[in-house]
Amino acid sequence: MALLNELDALGWGAWKQEIEALLAEKERFISQVDGNARRLLPLLERLPQIAESEIDLDADAIRIGAGDDLSSQQREELREILMEFRHWRKGPFNIFGVEIDSEWRSNLKWNRIKDQIAPLAGRRILDVGSSCGYYLFRMAASRPRLALGLEPYAPFYCQYLLLQRLIGEPSVDCWPLKLEELPAMTDCFDSIFHMGVLSHQRAPIDALKQLAGLLVRGGELVLETLIVEGEGEWAFCPPKRYAKMHNVFFLPTIACLKGWLERAGFDNIRCIDQTWTSSEEQRRTEWIKSESLADFLDPDDPRKTAEGHPAPLRAVLLADRR
Ligand SMILES: C[S@@+](CC[C@H](N)C(=O)[O-])C[C@H]1O[C@@H](n2cnc3c(N)ncnc32)[C@H](O)[C@@H]1O
Repeated sequence: MALLNELDALGWGAWKQEIEALLAEKERFISQVDGNARRLLPLLERLPQIAESEIDLDADAIRIGAGDDLSSQQREELREILMEFRHWRKGPFNIFGVEIDSEWRSNLKWNRIKDQIAPLAGRRILDVGSSCGYYLFRMAASRPRLALGLEPYAPFYCQYLLLQRLIGEPSVDCWPLKLEELPAMTDCFDSIFHMGVLSHQRAPIDALKQLAGLLVRGGELVLETLIVEGEGEWAFCPPKRYAKMHNVFFLPTIACLKGWLERAGFDNIRCIDQTWTSSEEQRRTEWIKSESLADFLDPDDPRKTAEGHPAPLRAVLLADRR
């Protein structure tokens, strides 16, 4: 984790010991205890090592190297290694000619937001729930000072390690932590992306307050979450599962979400996008081993989830820290 050497330069020296101890413990757990990581980490040593491979982070499908950098046998071996790292939820990527057609076409979301957010050049960015790092690498194309991800789920963190080993982007790092495991850091980031995570948090206002504290004054929050249509300030709390997910707690109306943001310390709150999730954006491919959107919806009425709730509608809000 290259960033560990830069904590003082970033002005984060006050939390250095706590961060170092936390990450050392997580690294120990991941490399010695977590079953998925213990299976995946040794595979990183079998990745091709191509000096000077061409990399394009500013493309819908992030491109690492070219097909003819490898022999067809090497490419087949690489494909087998990449398959071991399934589920590839976020992407797409083209790695030495192997196309990872991930479950989500994350480029669609990035294209909806990239021209509406504060320009990322020179900024310190936090991406909460960064998964394999697709957005971190897309952000790096804008030359931020730093793009730091938080990804607590070991298989996704291992995907990040795989990609970073091939890309070697110095402005990007990722810590295998939950947001709430971070030390009580304040005024550390100029932009925070919190996308696809809020509905999974039991205490959404607490999470938003923590994000406000992490931002500098005037810093920008990019918040994307599941919402429900409707007037007034209320949130739908699914009784059990929502779209077959057991960990969805609150789906607010836009007015409710704006109220949460105000109470958490944000102003200049505006909704820049609302999109119904479609099977163009989320679908089953060979790069996942599980069900996908079509299986989560009512087969007779795609406006409803399998449980009869409103189908997934996602909003993106921008807000400035007061
Ligand atoms: C639905 S995915 C969204 C991924 C990505 N941000 C996006 O918008 O496509 C949620 C991600 O957040 C991670 N996550 C869940 N709870 C978290 C928490 N408390 N702190 C940080 N990450 C979390 C999950 O492991 C998962 O990778």
